[in-house]
Amino acid sequence: MTRLGIIGSGSIGAGLASLASAAGHDVRIANSRGPESLAGLVAELGPGVQAATVEEAAAFGDLTILAVPLSAYGSLPIQELSGRTVLSTGNYYPSRDGRIPELDSLDLTTAEYESTVLPGAVIVKAFNNIVAHHIPSLARPAEAQDRSGMAVFGDSTEAKQLVAQVIGDLGFDAVDCGPLAESWRTEPESGAYTLVYAADSEGFSSDYTADPGAPVPADRLRELVAASTRAKVAEREF
Ligand SMILES: NC(=O)c1ccc[n+]([C@@H]2O[C@H](COP(=O)([O-])OP(=O)(O)OC[C@H]3O[C@@H](n4cnc5c(N)ncnc54)[C@H](OP(=O)(O)O)[C@@H]3O)[C@@H](O)[C@H]2O)c1
Repeated sequence: MTRLGIIGSGSIGAGLASLASAAGHDVRIANSRGPESLAGLVAELGPGVQAATVEEAAAFGDLTILAVPLSAYGSLPIQELSGRTVLSTGNYYPSRDGRIPELDSLDLTTAEYESTVLPGAVIVKAFNNIVAHHIPSLARPAEAQDRSGMAVFGDSTEAKQLVAQVIGDLGFDAVDCGPLAESWRTEPESGAYTLVYAADSEGFSSDYTADPGAPVPADRLRELVAASTRAKVAEREF
């Protein structure tokens, strides 16, 4: 059993908490409105998940998962996160997060930028290139033949190993895709963003939320990440 702190209880945070609970992990989950607001969610997710403050979730256990907008990273508790392995699911969306010059210029990847915002935290990037509803629909038990790969980027081998173990428990095969500097490969508008897991892989369905997703084996995911292209954020339309 791994002790997981999850900050963010929206689409991604709640989805990962649900899988973690099913895998028998001990989870503390937090949001911006406080533990009382999470009573309904934790009741739904079962006894393995308890509501916490952001500070409690940050300091809890072996791994902290961040599932909040990028604009919220600056308000997270730096002291509690320092020295910890932090699985970051965050993406940069200027329309939501405001313009960040280092990201618009491509000087940093989002994960590298997060490392500057949270000095001391050992950032590992994963689960940022899969839409929330594809996470439960593509999660499979370890013995399944149709498990999907999940790209993992990080600068610490030890931290990536811990994250890979948790990803495996949640139902995916972790694929080490290199350091944080390479994590642009799974950022929005890159070639290995969310569309790779879509059943309609040629383009978004008219109702993408109805797309059930399609398994992407680890070897195929590795190829897609290696072949990914990079788009300049400032040139994107949002
Ligand atoms: N949705 C997707 O399909 C998807 C896919 C891949 C990656 N991502 C990325 O994953 C991250 C989370 O996305 P999401 O879709 O799960 O977002 P979401 O549904 O909007 O949920 C965001 C969560 O973050 C919490 N939060 C916001 N500011 C906070 C703060 N300062 N301290 C603590 N908690 C805070 C919110 O708390 P309250 O509930 O109290 O407001 C909410 O629980 C984003 O960076 C997003 O770009 C999303």
